[in-house]
Amino acid sequence: MIRSYPSFVAGESCMKRIGVVTAGGDAPGMNAAIRSVVRSAIYNHLEVIGFERGYVGLINRQWRPLTMRSVSGIINLGGTILKTIRCKEMETPEGVEKAAETLKSLKIEGLVTIGGDGTFRGASELYKRSGIPMIGVPATIDNDVAGTDNTIGFDTAVNTALSAIDKIRDTATSHERIFVVEVMGRNRGFLALEVGLAGGAEIILIPEVKFDLQEISDRLKRGLEEGKTSQIIVAAEGVGPSQKIMDYIAKETKYQVRLTALGYVQRGGNPTAVSRILACEFGHHAVELLLNGEKERLVCIKNGKIGSTSLEDSCRKVKEMDLNRYRLAQILSL
Ligand code: F6P
Repeated sequence: MIRSYPSFVAGESCMKRIGVVTAGGDAPGMNAAIRSVVRSAIYNHLEVIGFERGYVGLINRQWRPLTMRSVSGIINLGGTILKTIRCKEMETPEGVEKAAETLKSLKIEGLVTIGGDGTFRGASELYKRSGIPMIGVPATIDNDVAGTDNTIGFDTAVNTALSAIDKIRDTATSHERIFVVEVMGRNRGFLALEVGLAGGAEIILIPEVKFDLQEISDRLKRGLEEGKTSQIIVAAEGVGPSQKIMDYIAKETKYQVRLTALGYVQRGGNPTAVSRILACEFGHHAVELLLNGEKERLVCIKNGKIGSTSLEDSCRKVKEMDLNRYRLAQILSL
């Protein structure tokens, strides 16, 4: 782990041109990260090539030069001006070879890849194939990247989902209903746990913790009998079909139960200050790492400090979850 802000003295690095790409699922704050990479690079007299549509753009040579003005007025925009696509071809040796050829033909001396764990597996393979330095910038609403405490977009998605849950709580209370609210997170529960704790959910269902629907139904019944005026179950999409959870609880509790799957609203919106600042810091540090001659690193934040860790290690590991937060949520929702 290093945290260094070398004096950005022009001419210290012989590097001339870098690339940047956003890949995988988009996340609010990706544009702020692109802006930070571009402006930090140009400040150091580097040229920046932006690849369009994720790794598909690398493979099909869809790119454009990025200037200081290319990234004006985007810090506050969700999505990514470079677009993104999930690229199956990048999971094949042939696809990686094509991407490597593109980088070499454009004389790109370092690539900043902004995305999630799938993005970094591609970047790690591309580094092995091309030898061109790869720096990963974690940007996903799932916050499931091993090696970093936080990812660009996670805070925004938490707040988007929380705002929805607060609204659902109003109608749940008016109708004395139980609501199942499904949130994203792919096969992890980081988003659900954060939103559930902040939203005061009675029940949080995450893939990391086994649960019994009969026990949950009994607990909900007790809650209503003890005077709870509404009850909300936050379910990570990775725990399985929310409809089945809703049907079981409705049958067992005899209460009106409704389901809201928040879906893709969690992926959009203006990034929060937390997501923007993380993007500014991560993008800047990615350029520093390239200027410092780093080869395959993942920018990260650990205990509040910006640093980096091995990209390959991050791809191999599964991010651990602090279940103390889960236990706290259980206590506070009694
Ligand atoms: O990885 C981000 C994410 O939003 C997950 O939470 C979700 O399961 C997935 O992407 C949806 O993938 P797609 O955008 O390809 O439908």
